[in-house]
Amino acid sequence: MFDHPDYDAHEKVLMVEDAASGLKAIIAVHSTALGAAAGGCRLWTYGSGVAALGDALRLSRGMSYKNAMANLPMGGGKAVILGPVLPERREAVLEAFGRAVDSLDGQYITAEDVGVSVADMKIVARTTGYVSGLDAAVGKSGGDPSPFTARGVRVGIEAAVKAKLGRSDLAGIKVAVQGLGHVGSYLCEELFNLGARLVVADINPVRVEEVCDRFAAESVSVNDILLQTVDVVAPCALGGAISEVVAQQLQATIVAGAANNQLLTPQAGVILGERGILYAPDYVINAGGIIMVAGEISGHNDEAHILAQVDAIGPRLTDIFIKAKSANVITNLVADSMARDKIAAAKARQNVTEAA
Ligand code: NAI
Repeated sequence: MFDHPDYDAHEKVLMVEDAASGLKAIIAVHSTALGAAAGGCRLWTYGSGVAALGDALRLSRGMSYKNAMANLPMGGGKAVILGPVLPERREAVLEAFGRAVDSLDGQYITAEDVGVSVADMKIVARTTGYVSGLDAAVGKSGGDPSPFTARGVRVGIEAAVKAKLGRSDLAGIKVAVQGLGHVGSYLCEELFNLGARLVVADINPVRVEEVCDRFAAESVSVNDILLQTVDVVAPCALGGAISEVVAQQLQATIVAGAANNQLLTPQAGVILGERGILYAPDYVINAGGIIMVAGEISGHNDEAHILAQVDAIGPRLTDIFIKAKSANVITNLVADSMARDKIAAAKARQNVTEAA
């Protein structure tokens, strides 16, 4: 693991195999410098264990950066459960996963991610208290983080449109949305309500039909969605959507979406920059969900307070865009260095406290 290309001085990586339930999972704790490592749990069928490990390592580092940039008092971690999980085993698998989370004594706090629902998290909560993304009380945030993620992506798109196109509203702005799951469909609703025109694709035709009906969207094939002649491409499916080839062929002027790890390689980000395409760093724009989860964990989950924090994603991106332009550096490198500085400063404070 120490030689894995995605290993980045992670504090702890737990591999779990539970024979009784069939659970196979990896919990990666990248950093606890800013607080307990928080990040969702993904249930996915990977091509290999090495691929699952790579995903856990990358996603957990992304969470460290995401939480630092959102000014949350939390470190970064992520869990993956290796699928497939048979329906009749799901409950036992999730309970066993909860026990694994619990064994870390609060170093890692879990929540939903791709393939995992609020109902699943309630099962996880039977065996650990270190879980969030459960149901919301009236007037409080909680439960499914996706609407908050979608709202953050929408304000991020607004900031990018302002920076790149000089426009203060989204009326008539054309957005291609890849992936119409939890976040993608809420994002379509947000954008539609502000007068944006939508082009959409999903591998699930039922979701495509529903979004087209509700939000007057045009559907295109999954192979063509990223190459549409639009203002904004919003990757909201899985990571790695922006390969070097896609970056080279993209017709949009902005890439701003919810998916984690959108750039398949660092070079893909360089190509976007060279072509003058504005990229909204994924872990900055998609922090709305974790902001809500952080409120749930800390108990400061008054909805108005959470929404104000989510809306702060807009000005934060504007700041990154300005810094990138004035230093002639690509946006994701600006964000990376800001995040690393915040984590390093927290580590230094921790060391001083421990020494004292
Ligand atoms: P989801 O599983 O509900 O939706 C993903 C959608 O993408 C599904 O409808 C799926 O059919 C579709 N899809 C998969 N491959 C595709 C392809 N090649 N082309 C088109 N569509 C494809 O997941 P969710 O929760 O909406 O998350 C979407 C992305 O946003 C993920 O990368 C996730 O890590 C990221 N994210 C989600 C957050 C949340 O609050 N749910 C928070 C931050 C990031």
